[in-house]
Amino acid sequence: VHWTEKERTIITGIFSHMDYEDIGPKALSRCLIVYPWTQRHFSCFGNLYNAEAIMGNANVAAHGIKVLHGLDRGVKNMDNIVATYAELSILHSEKLHVDPDNFKLLSDCITIVVAAKMGHAFTGETQAAFQKFLAVVVSALGKQYH
Ligand code: HEM
Repeated sequence: VHWTEKERTIITGIFSHMDYEDIGPKALSRCLIVYPWTQRHFSCFGNLYNAEAIMGNANVAAHGIKVLHGLDRGVKNMDNIVATYAELSILHSEKLHVDPDNFKLLSDCITIVVAAKMGHAFTGETQAAFQKFLAVVVSALGKQYH
């Protein structure tokens, strides 16, 4: 993958200003609400009975933050994303059995929440760079599936 200097600046900028404690819980909650089949992987998280329960669930919140920190690794290793996610790919495939299509769904939820937070600063150029980054991570997360 080739990254322009502009893309690198935009992506590192978004993550350096990111409020993980706000974005992470909102993005994972949104995914669980809008794509309810993703809930099956989180049955040990307790009450996911409705949208309110999901948004107030501390386990969901904590895991949303953890996922964002997972993206951090990619930002720090933008020239080596496939290798960076090899271990997480194996975990999600062989141990968690997460259908890789779901990575795209969660990444879209992250985009929506980041866009809502950034408002006018989320320009077309910003969106393109951010979604390119997420697409590369999603692809890397799917690499160890067979
Ligand atoms: C665990 C990242 C998408 C289900 C994790 C962990 C990270 C992570 C960093 C913790 C691994 C560890 O403890 O060593 C990501 C990233 C994703 C993604 C970056 C895509 C953007 C998904 C999706 C699902 C999912 C779409 C399910 C629909 C899980 C589950 C765990 C997990 C069930 C284990 C939770 C636990 O038992 O605490 N993920 N993940 N992940 N992920 Fe993902």
